[in-house]
Amino acid sequence: MLKLDLSRTIGMVKEEELKLAGPFTELALKTTVEKSGAGAEFLGWVELPANYDKTEFTRISQAAQKIRDDSDALVVIGIGGSYLGAKAAIEMLGHTFHNEMGKARTGGVQIYYLGHNMSADYMNEFLQIIEGKELSVNVISKSGTTTEPAIAFRVMKKYMEDKYGKTEAARRIYATTDARRGALKGLAEQEEYESFVVPDDVGGRYSVLTAVGLLPIAAAGIDIVEIMAGAKDAMDHYLTAPYADNDCLKYAAARNILYRKGREIEILVNYEPKLAFFAEWWKQLYGESEGKDGKGIFPASVNFSTDLHSMGQYIQDGRRHLFETVLQVGAPHRDFEIPKDEADLDGLNFLAGKTMHEVNTNAFRGTVLAHNDGNVPNLVLGIDQLNARTFGEMVYFFELGCAVSGYTLGVNPFNQPGVEDYKKNMFALLGKPGYEELARELNDRLK
Ligand code: PA5
Repeated sequence: MLKLDLSRTIGMVKEEELKLAGPFTELALKTTVEKSGAGAEFLGWVELPANYDKTEFTRISQAAQKIRDDSDALVVIGIGGSYLGAKAAIEMLGHTFHNEMGKARTGGVQIYYLGHNMSADYMNEFLQIIEGKELSVNVISKSGTTTEPAIAFRVMKKYMEDKYGKTEAARRIYATTDARRGALKGLAEQEEYESFVVPDDVGGRYSVLTAVGLLPIAAAGIDIVEIMAGAKDAMDHYLTAPYADNDCLKYAAARNILYRKGREIEILVNYEPKLAFFAEWWKQLYGESEGKDGKGIFPASVNFSTDLHSMGQYIQDGRRHLFETVLQVGAPHRDFEIPKDEADLDGLNFLAGKTMHEVNTNAFRGTVLAHNDGNVPNLVLGIDQLNARTFGEMVYFFELGCAVSGYTLGVNPFNQPGVEDYKKNMFALLGKPGYEELARELNDRLK
């Protein structure tokens, strides 16, 4: 199980304060479990690790097997919650150079992401890289109407039909969307794509443990049974453990205590490049869940030791409105010993025989103390090793922690009203029918 260490919070999260926060977080947990608070219609993720649709899960595994058998690469089309979880898992659990390694060595197909931006350069260069590969496509959109993936899918549908013909293209396209609504649902039915469901009661950013995340993750060759088992372990523990033994509730409490003392930015820190995209997933989860009604901790992230050489100065010495949550991995999959050099011209022989992990761990230890000296509280979350089981645990820990933290803050952690504003403006400026009046107003303001 994950282990939260609050001993590096430089006295800003006192034992007494944590105790006082306990009943509030327990109430927030009760509100979540009993579905009695705001956004209760989006709480399907809470018991998902136990209640997930086993028939759909089998279909996901079978589809992933077919993709691995008949394709070199899977194109994952989605944005926000419809791709971040899959990418976080594949980067954390797969080979660092997964796409370059090839199917024979990783046991999974190459994964390419599309539909998460509107860049012409990205599209053109993506079309170059997939040239000559056997392909499958997984288009993922809960609403089925999001512009970025819709444009990408229009392009890929034609590409696949030109390459394989209509019938074979349809056999290689998988749609993950709402059970009933949206343009993608209608399209998938008409074209007879194999379809998977984003449950009504699971919002985009909480959907990684549904087909949204699981199909691409399984196609990449990762064990999704273990992921669900890890999430179930976490669910069983964090939903029932008393506050004193419940690190998930304590995480929610500690970050709210720090927020009320003016620490308005939380930086998720890792010392392992495989976690860089886990941080992107986490940022969406916390940013969209808590950033509303003029409130919310701003979620940021850094990759150490890389970013100690870019962001380190600010964190050590800049404005004191931040705190860090450090993901500390206990052991690598395989350590690497630093070689001895007889001449020692670089003066590095004091490290000879030590391992990279030892050096990395001491970078972590030294940095925590330095940042503490710079008046930055650190929460440290210990993770034994990066594997499918711990990924499931981490997902559940942060999802539940987010719900509890959001309710403690006094916001609805399950809506995202602010995401709509840019979309309306963009549609109006692009001339979408029905947006004429807004278009006139915006064009006046842009003069
Ligand atoms: O968390 C959310 O709800 C959003 O970030 C969505 O995941 C994102 O906007 C994509 O939406 P959709 O899956 O409907 O295309």
